[in-house]
Amino acid sequence: MKLIPSPSRTELRGKSILLGVTGGVAAYKSANLLRELQSRGAKVQVVMTEAAQHFIGTATFQALSGEPVYTDAWDQRVSNAMAHIELSRQADIVLIVPASADFMAKLANGLADDLLSTLCIASNKPLAIAPSMNREMWAHPATQRNLKTLISDGAAIIGPDTGDQACGETGLGRMLEPYDICEAVTAMLTPKLMAGKRVVVTAGPTYEAIDPVRGITNRSSGKMGFELARALANAGAKVELIAGPTFQLTPHDVKRTDVTSALQMHAAVMRNCEPRPDVFVSVAAVADWRVVNASDRKLKKTAKRKVPELEFAENPDILSEVAALPDAPYCVGFAAESQDLLDNATAKRARKNVPLLVANIGPATFGLDDNQLLLIDENGHRSTAVRSKRSLATELVKEIARRLPMPGPGLHDDGFAFQKSDS
Ligand code: CTP
Repeated sequence: MKLIPSPSRTELRGKSILLGVTGGVAAYKSANLLRELQSRGAKVQVVMTEAAQHFIGTATFQALSGEPVYTDAWDQRVSNAMAHIELSRQADIVLIVPASADFMAKLANGLADDLLSTLCIASNKPLAIAPSMNREMWAHPATQRNLKTLISDGAAIIGPDTGDQACGETGLGRMLEPYDICEAVTAMLTPKLMAGKRVVVTAGPTYEAIDPVRGITNRSSGKMGFELARALANAGAKVELIAGPTFQLTPHDVKRTDVTSALQMHAAVMRNCEPRPDVFVSVAAVADWRVVNASDRKLKKTAKRKVPELEFAENPDILSEVAALPDAPYCVGFAAESQDLLDNATAKRARKNVPLLVANIGPATFGLDDNQLLLIDENGHRSTAVRSKRSLATELVKEIARRLPMPGPGLHDDGFAFQKSDS
């Protein structure tokens, strides 16, 4: 089973999605997609083709969306009898899930013989499609030709995936899971505040071996770092995520490198600093020390019950090293403190020489979905509300974006008021 991070309820708030369902066995999954989109705050309007209604009924979508479901170009419920225009104008995006081979062919050739195909042609909004079909149908030259046409016409193609198919065959053509489609749609609808920026993010704990089966680590779950990597990628950044051992799923459009120890994390970060990224966000809870006399065999208990003696050496401070590079990227540090939060975090920001330091408020948020942060920069400090790590990540991306040199107006003046720090 996939571990799904809890969604924030605000990410798609105010967005209106026209969900077009065409005839394919994966049509039943569109009901889950609708729920996932709604759980992020989107309003969803469903339009079905006639073929889709052989696989799933209109009543399901009507009950789930709380909106009438449209199937007919001559639907009398639309006041001006122009359902194709009215429905497409209300939406921020037209999303076809599943998109059958037949419907892709129609779209690629500009056919408009039912409500959904007419609406797609009449639409002035972005179009995204999630193909779903048998592997031979997907591989067929006609489908591949249509795919190329759709891409060059500007449609976003979400998937398909490879795997078991309803027909019993295995291969490429299977529809992506609703959660992954929802992630792609969320990314499409997120403002591109970080367009053109390359960002390196570290996340999770590190693990310092004592012997082949034992080691020293910490309680970091990696959640905050992964949410930040996701939010940065959704905002248009090219994100390289260097992750310590964690069970978090790799976010959509993020390049992930897995490491174990602090030394490995250090090497991976330094490799990714050539050429320099625009931003380095150091969320990882890096072990300060490693065991230098680690054994390559499992340590055994001795008859005399002598306990092992471990010798430690200090690990490199990755953040300080990146911040001290010539032409250093814009550096964001994190701090976990158990007392005197503001004083310790302010001192840490100065010691590491980073422009922005983010401290966790509250003793232990390890593994939890919610957090509260204290942001410290050269102007002072401010704390956030207690919110999901997902929405805090979105807030932090805005804070980072407005501090970067960016072309274009409007991104630099939506900041929050910072309070002057005493120290
Ligand atoms: N950090 C790092 N390399 C290390 C230790 C920490 O890059 N060897 C980074 C963390 O990713 C974080 C920041 O430095 O962004 C602060 O980490 P924290 O553990 O709070 O502080 P330490 O530097 O370890 O100092 P102390 O343990 O004394 O609080």
